[in-house]
Amino acid sequence: MCGIIGYCGPRRAAPILLEGLKRLEYRGYDSAGIALATPGCTTAGEGADSLGVIKARGKIKDLKALVPPDIAGTTGIGHTRWATHGEVTDANAHPHLDGTGDFAIVHNGVIENFHQLRDHLLAQGVEFHSETDSEVIVHLLARAYQGDLVAALTATVSLLKGTYGIVAMYRGEPGRLVGARNGSPLVLGIGQGEMFLASDTTAILGHTRQVIYLEDGEVVSLTADEYATSDLMNREIRKEVDHISWELESIEKTGFTHFMEKEIYEQPEAIRRALRGRLDREYATGHLGGLNLNSRELLEVGRIVLLAAGTSYHAGMVATYALEELVRVPAVAELASELRYRNPLVERDALYFAASQSGETADTLYAMREVQRKGGRVLGICNVVGSTIARESDGGVYIHSGPEISVASTKAFTSQLAAFYVFALLMGRMRHLSHDQGLRLIEALEAVPGQIEAILAHTEPIRALARRYASCEHFFFLGRGINYPVALEAALKLKEVSYIHAEGYSAAEIKHGPLALITEETPSVFLVPRDGLREKVITSMKEVKARRGPVIALAVEGDQEVARVADEVLYVPEAHHLMYPFLLAVPAQLFAYYCALERGCNVDQPRNLAKSVTVE
Ligand code: F6R
Repeated sequence: MCGIIGYCGPRRAAPILLEGLKRLEYRGYDSAGIALATPGCTTAGEGADSLGVIKARGKIKDLKALVPPDIAGTTGIGHTRWATHGEVTDANAHPHLDGTGDFAIVHNGVIENFHQLRDHLLAQGVEFHSETDSEVIVHLLARAYQGDLVAALTATVSLLKGTYGIVAMYRGEPGRLVGARNGSPLVLGIGQGEMFLASDTTAILGHTRQVIYLEDGEVVSLTADEYATSDLMNREIRKEVDHISWELESIEKTGFTHFMEKEIYEQPEAIRRALRGRLDREYATGHLGGLNLNSRELLEVGRIVLLAAGTSYHAGMVATYALEELVRVPAVAELASELRYRNPLVERDALYFAASQSGETADTLYAMREVQRKGGRVLGICNVVGSTIARESDGGVYIHSGPEISVASTKAFTSQLAAFYVFALLMGRMRHLSHDQGLRLIEALEAVPGQIEAILAHTEPIRALARRYASCEHFFFLGRGINYPVALEAALKLKEVSYIHAEGYSAAEIKHGPLALITEETPSVFLVPRDGLREKVITSMKEVKARRGPVIALAVEGDQEVARVADEVLYVPEAHHLMYPFLLAVPAQLFAYYCALERGCNVDQPRNLAKSVTVE
């Protein structure tokens, strides 16, 4: 949510900043801007010696059109905005300058005490040019500067309440950038005679693989050849250099029209990666290296709580069904945003998971910290290596999906399921599951990628269905048991990418109210695999049919009975009953994707949304 990048080195900064911003665009696309340590472009400051700022509402391509191709300047900062405080206007776009135009900052996060700070600055005669909370930072920085930019930034951030990833520059120290973080990610990239600072590694992957993840309360200073990290007491901190293993092509579309489509198609491989090395046929169990819990501690777990938001929450909900069935301990998924403010009871024998693709979601991170503060143990289920949740959790599992760029999460959902299932297998085998049952589960899990490949090989019926129904304005998605959360997820996918209003419900619940909304124009998509609840779902289908609602079914190949009741059927392969959430999610994702295409929506960048929601 908001992407920031900084560059200092021997090359022209503008193309590097624009390319980095393009890769960060999924974090926000309301407006964008750059500041360069060079005169010669539109400047909000006071003359030709000021920092040059070019910024505008709209996407990176709009910004690019404004930037002269040969613009000079080898140090610069850039920002792509997801609006929090202040509307989407040119003035509210970052970077922001102080009154002299000598200092510039970009900021990701929310400054909670900005009203007080702004009032204080206004009383001192400072003029504001935007409605953002971020602008106070640059005025404070300019006032704190006494010859040392790091000291000025350190003094500035000590006045801030809230979250921030900040990169700042000063015309009087060209060739230097400083950054600070609290709650919003910031990563330093170490190149050959050049340095980068960005809100995530995708922005700099084309230039370097050597990175340092900043922690909350840390400040960094960089020039082309050197960097130094310190804490808020100006004490030097020595940081480890990490190596990014992602390939550049993993953040490019590689022939697909959209990242969402690419990521849907990547699911078989992503699930294989999530399972690799984690299934042990000899002992018919799972292996998860990073849990930091020994067998005895795992045996003592009496309750499992999964904390997450959005799609990750739906994955967590699915996992609770699998955990209760396989491990026979109570398992519950909680909306992280709600748990945090509920003064949660943290029981001694409870094990918590924070599931997050990005590992940066503020709601999930803060809920995790709340549980940890109360003495609870929280394991992370994350995709982004080195992300805040991954680092702050007490152990955990990487899902290894590779970068997920599309705002709509797809492959992270199925890979999180895979990771949770391995955990359920491991815990189940320590308790009630026999060797045979464990083996059957391993076989079922290993079959999933191939089954998804079979679905992906025949997408024309899904596309045709989308063509027929994309003009509908309301949809229901209905499932039971372990597939109820899949119905929630299917509805979320459809609404976020195609802007069609969709409700996910337990198929049992529609008779308790929602049935009133069924009309000939309101299709219901039923998830009706061959499991213990199939008959019940068919009954609900008939109830909708009787009220003339169009019925679309996602059923198992060869299910004639479902075909007789439904108006339309899409088929998935026969599988172990716990594996249907994987198989039903994929056609639902594709259906949402194709509906969005039919309606001409911007699939990868849905309106009002952004990936990696680092604000509450
Ligand atoms: C939906 C979607 C969001 C995220 C949610 C949590 O497609 O992408 O609902 O799932 O913001 O994000 P993570 O998993 O990064 O914590």
